[in-house]
Amino acid sequence: MCGVVGFIGKRPCVRTIFEGLQRLEYRGYDSAGIATLSGGKIHTVKSDGKLARLEGHLKDLPQESFMGMGHTRWATHGAPTTQNAHPHVSGDLALIHNGIIENYRELKNELIKDGYSFKSETDSEVVLHLLSRELKSTPKMKDALLKIIARLHGAYGLGIMWAGEPDALYLVKQGSPVVIGTGTDENYFASDALALLPLTKSVIFLNDGEIGRLTKSTVELWDFSGKQLTRVPSVLNWTAASAEKQGYRHYMLKEIHEQPAVIAQTIARLVDSKTGKIDTKEMGIDDLDLSQVKSIVYVACGTAYYSAMISKYCVEQFVGVSVSVELASEFRNRDPYLDKETLVIAVTQSGETADTLACIKHAAAKGCQTFAVCNVRFSSIPRSAKSTLYMEAGPEVGVASTKAFTSMVLCHYLFGLAVAEKKKRVTPEVYGQAIQALKQLPMAVDRAVNAAGLIEDVAAKYYESPNFIFMGRGPSYMIALEGALKLKEVSYIHAEGYAGGELKHGPIALIDRHMPVVAVAPQDFHYEKMISNVEEVRAREGVVIGVGDLNDDKFKSLCRDYIPCPQSSDGALQTILTVIPLQFLAYYIAVKRGTDVDQPRNLAKSVTVE
Ligand code: M6R
Repeated sequence: MCGVVGFIGKRPCVRTIFEGLQRLEYRGYDSAGIATLSGGKIHTVKSDGKLARLEGHLKDLPQESFMGMGHTRWATHGAPTTQNAHPHVSGDLALIHNGIIENYRELKNELIKDGYSFKSETDSEVVLHLLSRELKSTPKMKDALLKIIARLHGAYGLGIMWAGEPDALYLVKQGSPVVIGTGTDENYFASDALALLPLTKSVIFLNDGEIGRLTKSTVELWDFSGKQLTRVPSVLNWTAASAEKQGYRHYMLKEIHEQPAVIAQTIARLVDSKTGKIDTKEMGIDDLDLSQVKSIVYVACGTAYYSAMISKYCVEQFVGVSVSVELASEFRNRDPYLDKETLVIAVTQSGETADTLACIKHAAAKGCQTFAVCNVRFSSIPRSAKSTLYMEAGPEVGVASTKAFTSMVLCHYLFGLAVAEKKKRVTPEVYGQAIQALKQLPMAVDRAVNAAGLIEDVAAKYYESPNFIFMGRGPSYMIALEGALKLKEVSYIHAEGYAGGELKHGPIALIDRHMPVVAVAPQDFHYEKMISNVEEVRAREGVVIGVGDLNDDKFKSLCRDYIPCPQSSDGALQTILTVIPLQFLAYYIAVKRGTDVDQPRNLAKSVTVE
């Protein structure tokens, strides 16, 4: 979704703002712009397309500008044109917006009747003119903002610059993320703390219903009733280097390769190496009243949803309560049955996904205990949940989620095991075996990552295929779904994931000699049935690409191409190993097809609109 960045200080800021926007490129966007205020005037440059195009216009801004705002736009209302790009400007006022103003038509009609004309097709421009009109009768910016926000329905993270107050930037947050960064003689804001990483680690995340005012040396906050607020800044624990490509061609490739370290670090952080016990305090579990929990509902979107589906194979089995997994966008738009005995768990890399956030707020309002599994500290979902298990996978910049997925699965496994132990649902023997399986995982993940070269060769054979089918059974069914999603996202190839047993209920009609079928068949409980499904595909001349055990000659002999993969004694942990070849497959196919791997078309990293 849109990215916003603002700067106010004592030094020229155009380059700093532009670089902040570059760090937000991963979020997905289609046009961009920057406005600065200098010499009592607003100056703007905008462009459709990527930031490289905007960069050519930066020289048109006064270089001695000490305050300004930048925006990358992910089009919702109006085409991705220069005209529709932000900042929007009216006279001495400039505005950037992340979110959607739902009642913009009604407001626009009202403003047009009042003589205002619109330069863009965006919903955002109505906020600019509303504010401009209000400032005529309410000459203080804070008071004018308090008046107009009462008229806005929807989600908005706003940045405002006004020549009437040339030493201040204003921010408003409702529904869309806004974070303030504090520096020495300069302050900043952004839609995502990543944008601020090289500038500061001292940040204040605005809550919904808050307004901020930044000067170069002060930060003031108010709530929407006008009451002044005080907030102590939090300290980010990510380094600027962790958000760089570090020599890799793409972030996606870097993040796939980071998985052995992320998995090892997570286990080291959460499992005491001496006692072999999971640290339930660090996991956020001690803050929950488990005696009350009779069922668990997971809510999530996309890859996070597939990870949550794997919890059925670890949390449900370990804890012995019913686990259901819901797409957040569906869950929030019906009236689900929830009671105080339901634990609702949100799974999210970004912590900002609008649908997942709405679910956790709804569950809390219904009196449920709420828990989050999240990667980004201080983001909105952890701030709304009773307690959070932080994945600590480090910044994930590639739009296609890779290390976040494996990290989520590991967190579900640890959660299930830890809760089971607390509730005395596992014998010490079973607990010990599970910890042993965990200890072997980092080495196995390392071996999986080292098979990249072979997968690149497989990708070279199939990258021109217009369709793919992925199939698996049990936990590997989720890997089939995730493998298909990864391929679609980064290569734009049509791909579907199916449960092996479902193939004969319809999708088998698609099989012919042109259809590559990626069969995920580790040597688990479902193995023999998967082999039968592979035979069914072969009988219809389907082209089988197998993902299975290194020594599985039987399976290998049935496949046109075979990707060996390390094995785990646990079915849920096995998914961490079997997904890695599919991440590589998607990546290398995308590279062969020449797509924009890290910022695939139409996609955004953090989906902050419904
Ligand atoms: O930040 P979240 O984990 O809440 O994001 C959820 C989905 O938007 C995300 O997983 C999306 O499906 C990815 N692009 C998948 O690679």
